Amino acid sequence: MDKRILPITLEDYFKDIPARATEPVLIRSLSQMVSLFKDGEEALKEGDWELYRFWTIEPAMNQPGEMAFGVTDLYPGTIGGEFNMTHGHYHAGPGAELYMGLKGSGLLLLQSREGELKIIEFKEGTATYIPSGWGHRMVNTGEQTMTFLAVWPTGIEHDYEVMYRNDFKVRVLKGDGGVVFEDR
Ligand SMILES: [Fe+2]
Repeated sequence: MDKRILPITLEDYFKDIPARATEPVLIRSLSQMVSLFKDGEEALKEGDWELYRFWTIEPAMNQPGEMAFGVTDLYPGTIGGEFNMTHGHYHAGPGAELYMGLKGSGLLLLQSREGELKIIEFKEGTATYIPSGWGHRMVNTGEQTMTFLAVWPTGIEHDYEVMYRNDFKVRVLKGDGGVVFEDR
């Protein structure tokens, strides 16, 4: 039997995610996202640090109609009072995605190309469908590492550069009473 279709639990994946990855682990550090944070330059003076890491698992590499998936560990903390977050991206062409929360808690920001914004509370077990054409960014507003699963169609292109021209409308800051949204 094709070992790709054997059932496996998420617990099994967590045991050895790097060994199952089909691409090198992607590590995002503050220095790679510095201008996306309001006070990123100032925070970087204190030193660079890893914000999140991401493993891709693609059982049928580049074959049309197949699916790839990934697991992200998004670390807790703030950068100049702004909650840690993923870079955020759009898919260059058609291509929906599914996110599912596995550990921790936070907020998923979704924004259409027309500028409509949706904010979804995320925790273990939350699953969200991200339609084609919507940018997506996860923000860790909790106190532990946030881990989530993403599933997307093979062959799509990820557009990260668009964030430097047309970022999300809001920043997610840590206020005295919890989460505070600030217009960008
Ligand atoms: Fe995506």
